[in-house]
Amino acid sequence: YPPDKIRNFSIIAHVDHGKSTLADRLLELTGTIKRGHGQPQYLDKLQVERERGITVKAQTATMFHKCNNNGSDINDVDKAAKFLLNLIDTPGHVDFSYEVSRSLAACQGALLVVDAAQGVQAQTVANFYLAFESNLAIIPVINKIDQPTADPDRVKAQLKSMFDLEPSDCLLTSAKTGLGLEQVLPSVIKRIPPPPGNSNSPLRMLLLDSYYDEYKGVICHVAVVDGVLRKGDKISSAATGHAYEVADVGIMHPELTPTGVLLTGQVGYIVSGMRSTKEARVGDTLHHNRFSVEPLPGFKPARHMVFSGLYPADGSDFDALNHAIERLTCNDASVSVTKESSSALGLGFRCGFLGLLHMDVFHQRLEQEYGAHVISTVPTVPYIFEYSDGSKAQVQNPAALPSNPKTELQLAGNLQYVGPVITLCSARRGQQLEYSFMDSQRAFMKYRLPLREIVVDFYNELKSITSGYASFDYEDSEYQESDLVKLDVLLNGQPVDAMATIVHKLKAQRVGRELVEKLKKFIDRQMFEITIQAAIGAKVIARETVSAMRKNVLAKCYGGDVTRKKKLLEKQKEGKKRMKRIGSVDIPQEAFHELLKVS
Ligand code: GTP
Repeated sequence: YPPDKIRNFSIIAHVDHGKSTLADRLLELTGTIKRGHGQPQYLDKLQVERERGITVKAQTATMFHKCNNNGSDINDVDKAAKFLLNLIDTPGHVDFSYEVSRSLAACQGALLVVDAAQGVQAQTVANFYLAFESNLAIIPVINKIDQPTADPDRVKAQLKSMFDLEPSDCLLTSAKTGLGLEQVLPSVIKRIPPPPGNSNSPLRMLLLDSYYDEYKGVICHVAVVDGVLRKGDKISSAATGHAYEVADVGIMHPELTPTGVLLTGQVGYIVSGMRSTKEARVGDTLHHNRFSVEPLPGFKPARHMVFSGLYPADGSDFDALNHAIERLTCNDASVSVTKESSSALGLGFRCGFLGLLHMDVFHQRLEQEYGAHVISTVPTVPYIFEYSDGSKAQVQNPAALPSNPKTELQLAGNLQYVGPVITLCSARRGQQLEYSFMDSQRAFMKYRLPLREIVVDFYNELKSITSGYASFDYEDSEYQESDLVKLDVLLNGQPVDAMATIVHKLKAQRVGRELVEKLKKFIDRQMFEITIQAAIGAKVIARETVSAMRKNVLAKCYGGDVTRKKKLLEKQKEGKKRMKRIGSVDIPQEAFHELLKVS
């Protein structure tokens, strides 16, 4: 395949507008997967993705399509040329836009999918600009035209007024009924330029993604920008200087299919004997060791919005968690990991995530894919603290703070969203920056709010007050000064570092009260009295007690029935699994989770 017969494209959209369904249909249409293969959403491979119905990881698949050179789909097989098309599916949720920009780096064009009834939404705007800034050819696809409430003309007008996309350029499709799908691939071939690389230049490959396979070791997804890669070639990493021999090379069609070679412009996989996942740096440039090359631009590093501690739950050990985190971060390079220790929870990790959903998904994947049992601590956004001597420190863990720092700067997030939610934003200390109309029914607003106010349950509240009609997206803004305090939680007089939070001074009293009330609900009575306190420095601002009682599950068994007794003991053991003993108090995992909802 010479580069002019290759097209690399991506599908971008707001969440739920039908990207994954459309990707499936295109794979079926080209015979890459069988029609009705019994597995909805082929590219959503992870268990979390199937369960939650969202795409978390960008996946790549290669397909072949016959078309004549000017992009019209023809039946005359003799005149038809065969094109190699690489489709990169991307996640739609705001937390995963890092994956989107990564995928776009390997593409020359994108299908911008918009729901024909819902129209342009916040992530349509964000994703459009990601693609636009990367100079990609953009093909607007108005999907779900089979819906009774579909209004493609209105969506065409929105696309024109927001992005200057011509109504005549819009494709109309239903990924559900198949209507209009036959125009999609010919438009890709016609309107998206071939990859620009040079086959005669020394090899340059962009490392797009990597994961660990039990049998093959580290598998890297790569885009060959210049030159040609063959099995057996000796390559080096521009970032680390390490050298490797390519043991296997091929395409994802859609399973790993060895081809022995990857040509200029192709996207595929390599296995090169990288031993540790740390060696496979996403965004790195790989080249033949006999040439030195100018490294490719790579990706913007991920910006972490939320930090949380991850600790082994009782009964599972640190080494197992360490191993699981190492393997998983290979597949999700956007998580930052540093070791930390907590006096309450022992040895563990401080991890940085792109958002709360991302944090949840990472947690779930650790459990589902690696069998790790994890306790995660109350998440926090990053802060910069300025001490009275003028020195500054970035803080990702509230426990690391002295009790009362003098002045503080707080990270703010820029927020774009649509809908009548001004009250919500002012309650969360927001400042309006922009207010405009997309058409007679839809408004577009931009706010600046403290990041903490967004990561804590903002999305759910926004959805509920607008009956799901508003969507939002955010990008980070600069740090701003704010009056913050560290709020400690004490159990039986002992501060629990893993439960410390940072809050605005004016909210401290209320948050402290809610925290102790929540904790009281979640801590079972134990054999002794437990006092729960919230404090700022030495000053206790709220207090609750859980009175002593032995929780005797056998009390109702009247001694007789042994199997019933055994069953109940099993059940009790089960219930204890996710407990973490802090001092002498057993805390269930839910308590940590509930704490984060207090804002
Ligand atoms: P994420 O992967 O979470 O980003 O979502 P997505 O954009 O990939 O959306 P997905 O393909 O999962 O589709 C969302 C829902 O819309 C699913 O329930 C699909 O069955 C449905 N859907 C997709 N295309 C169409 C269509 O053309 N018509 C109708 N009526 N429903 C569709």
